[in-house]
Amino acid sequence: MTENTPFFSQTLITWYHRHKRNLPWRSTTDPYFIWLSEVILQQTRVNQGLPYYHKFTEAYPTVQDLAAAPEDEVLRLWQGLGYYSRARNMHHTAKQIVQEYGGNFPGNYSELLKLKGVGSYTAAAIAAFAFKEQVAVLDGNVFRVLSRVFGISDDIAAPASRKIFQEQADKLVPADEPDTYNQAIMEFGAIQCTPVMPDCLFCPLQQSCFAFTHGLVQELPVKSKAKAARPRYFHYLVFAWQGRYYMRKRLEGDIWQGLYDFYLYESADKHLDADALLAELNAAGIPVAADHFSGPRKEYKHVLSHQKITAKFYLIQLSERLKNEVEQETRLAIYNPEKIDELPKPVLISNYLKDAKILLHL
Ligand code: ADE
Repeated sequence: MTENTPFFSQTLITWYHRHKRNLPWRSTTDPYFIWLSEVILQQTRVNQGLPYYHKFTEAYPTVQDLAAAPEDEVLRLWQGLGYYSRARNMHHTAKQIVQEYGGNFPGNYSELLKLKGVGSYTAAAIAAFAFKEQVAVLDGNVFRVLSRVFGISDDIAAPASRKIFQEQADKLVPADEPDTYNQAIMEFGAIQCTPVMPDCLFCPLQQSCFAFTHGLVQELPVKSKAKAARPRYFHYLVFAWQGRYYMRKRLEGDIWQGLYDFYLYESADKHLDADALLAELNAAGIPVAADHFSGPRKEYKHVLSHQKITAKFYLIQLSERLKNEVEQETRLAIYNPEKIDELPKPVLISNYLKDAKILLHL
């Protein structure tokens, strides 16, 4: 720190040296490891993200290893973290770095921003932590700390507010240690200035904090409510033949691109129109009897950020294997349980496979 470092930043850095958690991505300046950690930690808590960070750095110790991996394998390792496009973009970007950048990450914020899946947050994090560039990293933690300490009441969920926070944030990054400062403010938000029950009593910024001195800690930051999640009703037909099961890889244009699930029939509400489903199966050349769809069934609920899925599964033993043309037309492919284990799958599908005892050791 220098004497020009603002009081706020000095205080956070001092606090950080005393309270920081020992996290593996903090003891490296390798942009590849920093990038991996930041992609994993977006929308994911540290405790949940840590095992994934270890899995990825072990499986792919270099960006070349990640670039050379099959997409199914990358998605399988990512399984359970959600937001699978993050993994697909990451894989794409690894290839781009190898092919177009000779295996080296671009060395500054504006060049990093050109990479697929690298937004202003990730670009700033890599630039600050790997290259010590004087840029402010803005994540949810930082928004909250700035809102409270400086009394910024703009809605943090509104994209237009970003500029206001960015302007404030940019004034605070010390030139000599942008890396430590940015880790410090994020860590401060994660463990001291928490969303509920922040530890104001023992806060070193207490007397200079707008929210604390005005009794507004509970009111700040202002965050408008997200839209209600869209309900969806899935009916999964699990076609089985001689101990093997038909699955298919999901296409683009909907959730879970690149992951594997079963034949899916989606209905507009809870009610399943069995006649319509049978007509569809008939047209596809899949021989199924009507009585497969009667009777009560377990409902699986699966909540995503903008969708709430209710799913039912219908295990259907086929008396013969589907015809070649039918397999091709429907894109269904048959797998034994060992292979199913290796496929990347939505957690909803893994849960079913476990309950149905098709996979025992998930
Ligand atoms: N969340 C996002 N990035 C982080 C980091 N570098 N350290 C701790 N938590 C984080």
